[in-house]
Amino acid sequence: MRSSSTPLRTRLAALCAGLAATAALIAAGGSSAHAADTPLRDLAAAKGKVIGTAVTGSKLTGTYGDLAGSQFGSLTPGNAMKWESVEPSRGTFNWTEADQIVAFAQAHGQQVRGHTLVWHNQNPGWLTNGSWTSAQLGTLLQDHISTEVGRYKGKIAAWDVVNEPFNEDGTYRTDLWYNGLGADYIADALTWARAADPAAKLYINDYNVEGVNAKSTALYTLVKSLKERGVPIDGVGLQAHLILGQVPSTLQQNIQRFADLGVDVAITELDVRMALPADSAELAQQAADYKAVTAACVAVTRCVNLTVWGFADSDSWVDSTFPGYGAATPYDANYAPKPAYYAIAEALGGTTTTPPTGACSATYSVVSQWNTGFTGQVRIACSGAALSSWKATWTYGAGQQVTQAWNAACTQSGTAVTCTNASYNGTVPDGGSVTFGFNGTWSGGNPVPSVTLG
Ligand code: XIL
Repeated sequence: MRSSSTPLRTRLAALCAGLAATAALIAAGGSSAHAADTPLRDLAAAKGKVIGTAVTGSKLTGTYGDLAGSQFGSLTPGNAMKWESVEPSRGTFNWTEADQIVAFAQAHGQQVRGHTLVWHNQNPGWLTNGSWTSAQLGTLLQDHISTEVGRYKGKIAAWDVVNEPFNEDGTYRTDLWYNGLGADYIADALTWARAADPAAKLYINDYNVEGVNAKSTALYTLVKSLKERGVPIDGVGLQAHLILGQVPSTLQQNIQRFADLGVDVAITELDVRMALPADSAELAQQAADYKAVTAACVAVTRCVNLTVWGFADSDSWVDSTFPGYGAATPYDANYAPKPAYYAIAEALGGTTTTPPTGACSATYSVVSQWNTGFTGQVRIACSGAALSSWKATWTYGAGQQVTQAWNAACTQSGTAVTCTNASYNGTVPDGGSVTFGFNGTWSGGNPVPSVTLG
C-alpha cells in the first residue's frame, strides 16, 4: 500500500517544499535518530495492524502533516465528519475539511475511519432544537447517513456509525435518537450505512468499554443480538480515553470476547491523560500504559486498528476537556517523540536503541520562498533533556546556499551547513526551545534536509 503511493508522495513533497516543514528529530548526544527509526505504520503493518491518528484538516502541513503522513496508516477526522460540521444549517453542507482529510489520506496511502454518523453530541442546533415526529426523525437520520456515507463511498475503510449509545450502567443513553426512535435506531443506522457503502466496515463505538464491565457487556449483548438478527455490524470501537496508570486489566480479555463474536475490534481514540505538569515518572508510566494497550491489540488477531486521538500534546482535546490534565499523546507539544512513542514502537516489534528518557530535536522549516531565494528556520526544542550549547548541521541536496543567518553563526562548505549558537542562545532548558533563521538561494528544487544536532 505504501510503496504504490511513493511516487505521488514524492511529487507532493516536491510541490509542497516551499510551504512544508519537515522534522529531523535527533536524540541529543544519543546514537539513535528518531527519523531513522521505522515509522509506526510500517511496524504496525508487519504485525497485520493499522495504526492511526485523529487529525484536524487545517493542520496537515509542516511538521504536523509530515508526521501524520509518515507515521500513521489511518486517519480519523477529529471533528470534520460530525453532523454539526457537515450540515451546520439544514440543507447547507460543508465538506471542505472532510474532503481535505480524505484527499490527504489518499495521497499518503492511508485508510480513513469515518467518525461519526449518529451521536448525542456535536449535532447542529437546527436538529437538536427542532421538534420532530418519529417518522421525521427517522427520515432525517436516513438522509444524513445516505448523503454522508454515499459521498465517501469506496474511500472509507470503517465508519463509526453509532457513537456512545450506552450509559455507564449498560442502559441505553436516552438521547435524541433513543427517545425519538427507540433502540432500533442503531439497527436502522447500520442498515442504511451498509446500503450507502457496502464495502465500509460498520462499527459501534463507545468509551469506558475497554475492560469487562456493565457497559461493555451491554455492548457485547447488543452486538450479539444484531448479528443474530442479521443486522450489518462489522466491528466495535473501544475509544480508550484513559487515565494514567488505569489500563483495565481485562482489556485483552474484553477485546477477545468481541473477536469471538465474529466482529473486528479497533482501539479508536487512545489517549492517556495525567495531572499537569508531567514529570519523568509520569511519562514513564504513560509509556507503560501505551505499551499495554498496544500489546493487547497486537495479541488479538481481530484487533485491526489502533488510533490515537491526536498524536501531539499540542493537538489533544484533553487539556480543554479535563482541566488540569494533559500530556496525553505520544509526541510533546514540539513534536518530539515522548517515551510513549517508543513504547508503542516496541510493542509493535520495533527496536529503539536510545532509552526513551528525553531528547532535544531540531526542526527545519522553509518559512517563505520566492523566485531564487528563501527564508528558512530551525527550531531546537528539548523535552526531558537540556542543552548548554548546540550545533546544528545538515547537507543540502539540491544546490541551496545559505547567504545570511541570524540568532546563529552559520557556515557552508560545499553542500554542508554548520550552525552554532550565538553567545546569548546556547542554553535550551528542559521544556524550552530556541529558533534561528537564515536566508538562502535555490533553483530547481528546495527540498527540506534532515538536521543533526551535535
Ligand atoms: C472531541 C474532539 O476531539 C474535540 O475537538 C471536540 O471539541 C469534542 O469532541 N469521543 C468522541 C470524539 O467520540 O468525537 C470526541 O472528540 C472525544 C470523545
